[in-house]
Amino acid sequence: MARTKTIYRCNACGAEHPQWTGWCSSCEASGTLDQSVSSVRAVPSSLAPAATAVPIAQASTGGVEPRPTTISEADRVLGGGLVPGSVTLLGGEPGVGKSTFLLHVAAAVANAGRRCLYVTAEESAQQVAARAERLGAMSDDLWLAAETLLPNVLTLVDDVKPELLVVDSVQTLVDPELSAAAGSLVQVRGCAHTLVSEAKRRDLTVVMVGHVTKDGGLAGPKVLEHVVDTVLSFEGERHHALRLLRATKHRFGGTHELGLFEMGDRGLTGVPDPSAMFLTDRQVGIPGSVVAPVLDGQRPMLVELQALVVPTQAPMPRRTAQGVDSGRMAQVLAVLERRVGLFVSKADVHVAVSGGVKVREPGADLAIALAVASALTDIPVPPEMVACGEVGLCGGLRQVHGTDRRLAEAARLGFTSALAPSSAPDPPAGLRVGRFQSLHDAVVATRLVSGG
Ligand code: TYD
Ligand code: MG
Repeated sequence: MARTKTIYRCNACGAEHPQWTGWCSSCEASGTLDQSVSSVRAVPSSLAPAATAVPIAQASTGGVEPRPTTISEADRVLGGGLVPGSVTLLGGEPGVGKSTFLLHVAAAVANAGRRCLYVTAEESAQQVAARAERLGAMSDDLWLAAETLLPNVLTLVDDVKPELLVVDSVQTLVDPELSAAAGSLVQVRGCAHTLVSEAKRRDLTVVMVGHVTKDGGLAGPKVLEHVVDTVLSFEGERHHALRLLRATKHRFGGTHELGLFEMGDRGLTGVPDPSAMFLTDRQVGIPGSVVAPVLDGQRPMLVELQALVVPTQAPMPRRTAQGVDSGRMAQVLAVLERRVGLFVSKADVHVAVSGGVKVREPGADLAIALAVASALTDIPVPPEMVACGEVGLCGGLRQVHGTDRRLAEAARLGFTSALAPSSAPDPPAGLRVGRFQSLHDAVVATRLVSGG
């Protein structure tokens, strides 16, 4: 039995209110409440299907085997591939390469003999087809449609019967049954809910694109995260070719893997060996350059930290940090000055990570400190050396997680020595490790300052 009631829905955030007010108490937007009718369906308790409880060991876990996309960097992040019947949201800023990535995925799945339907609700079919041709992402099992109406998309699914449905993007999809503007939160949420229930009903794998703006974005994917199984984010700097894929939510596996791609003229190519790529153009024997083994998720990578120190008369010397956290850099500079005796307060200090990588973890502290010390003294550090460890405010060195994996990566790339905190584990064959209790001792050992 259905009954209706009048409610007032905010067209900015979707919150429902029993009474009209001049502003929305949820998102604080003013003048956004619209009258709307909601139907409340009462389910008589005698008709509601009752769930049965079973001992947990008897509950079936079947049907959650992932199927590889055959794009290894994507499968690495997904823990093997896309799970049939699952719904994945791919978020990222406009222009980062989401459509390109999903075209590659759809073509790879189709080339493995599994039919895909790519629904573009933003671009024309011709634009997408032209891109697919340029990327070499063509397959007889890849079907394409330009459609924005959700019921029509579901009809297409019935006709084409794909195993994988790609929707680009959920923000431009419209459900005419919902009395809200296209792109509004009510539409985005409604379309996503319908797609999720249809995916479960038909055992259809769905991947949908959701744009996010720099600040997390209104009408963006944030509100959708709890209805989907997996949330992937695609990141990268506009002026760098590097693109990072990570899972921020994954009901079928971990969220600790990182996928790396390079954007080129012919689309995205996987980067199976990021360390080798980041160190390709490194000039050895230059003051201010130190290699650090960092960890992003589970993935160790060697990156080059570069520093430049320039004396200045300015009352407020400049500090620029590119790819490293400016707060961490300021701390490291303070420790260098107070605990090591290297004075940087009368100099501009610039620190950068090469290759467009962002290092947000404390494992790079020691390398930042050594790079600045090396730039300040104009003495290069040995080119076959890496440095890894957190610098404490009292000048002590602390071990960071995964030090063994970081050292193994350095040894694999041919580095022969490492500077590390005193508790560092035994290094792999071919790598000597110098263990130090304090930043001061590490700087002295690198001959950047004399022992004294
Ligand atoms: P796109 O996939 O359209 O981004 P999104 O869907 O996230 O908005 O890709 C956008 C950018 O990628 C575009 O500015 C150009 C660049 N690009 C390449 O550099 N090479 C290519 O082969 C393709 C297809 C795109
Ligand atoms: Mg796009």
